[in-house]
Amino acid sequence: MRRKLVAGNWKMHGGIAQNRELLAAIVAGTKTVQDADFAVCVPYPYLFQAQSLLRDTSIQWGAQNVSQHEKGAYTGEVSTAMLLDFGCRYAIIGHSERRALYGENDDTVALKFAAALQAGLTPILCLGETLDQREANVTEQVVARQLDAVIESVGIAALSRAVLAYEPVWAIGTGRTATPGQAQEVHAFLRGRIAAHDAGVAAPVKILYGGSVKADNAAELFAMPDIDGGLVGGASLVADEFIAICRAAGAGSR
Ligand code: PGA
Repeated sequence: MRRKLVAGNWKMHGGIAQNRELLAAIVAGTKTVQDADFAVCVPYPYLFQAQSLLRDTSIQWGAQNVSQHEKGAYTGEVSTAMLLDFGCRYAIIGHSERRALYGENDDTVALKFAAALQAGLTPILCLGETLDQREANVTEQVVARQLDAVIESVGIAALSRAVLAYEPVWAIGTGRTATPGQAQEVHAFLRGRIAAHDAGVAAPVKILYGGSVKADNAAELFAMPDIDGGLVGGASLVADEFIAICRAAGAGSR
């Protein structure tokens, strides 16, 4: 059985004082939750704080993006080595906001994915369709294209060192969650596509669901056979919500 993972994506939110409170609450609130992993992906400036406050806890941390370049004249960018300096375990790659607002295409995403893996970070690769694409019935083509771009670039075996996140764009920050059935369908499709290359990679790979995951819908999403946890935006900023989502992923709650 795959162990569940709940990762918070803080996006561009936070502040030194509020982070301290939020992280302390998450550490305390998840202490007794077993058989699942938890992480927070924080803005770059707070990685030092996350490392200081989480290093002796079971909560892991990571970034929301990373440069595909190793170093050099890339003003404003942050490298994989820098993330490792701050103890990051994860880097979110190809979030739909990066794709839509910062021009990241399948090629950039594949390069970033490869750079993260190469450095020993665990990429959380985001895939998902827009509302127009869902309504045009091309969801599977879209997520397949996004996944294939990465597989073509790094090879199928590399996926065993990564996490996938299915995040329908229309469900992100909208309060409109995919139904467990809708999400399961795409998760099963993605796992099947990986299995067509290598069943041994497909079976253990974690596929998180993201898009308006909340305390009151997490348990039913996580009960689906191919949903292995969540990538949580808005609700990861509210301690009680995030803790409840983590508990829904833990042992004894399914
Ligand atoms: P949301 O965001 O939970 O606020 O919908 C999820 C994400 O964008 O990762």
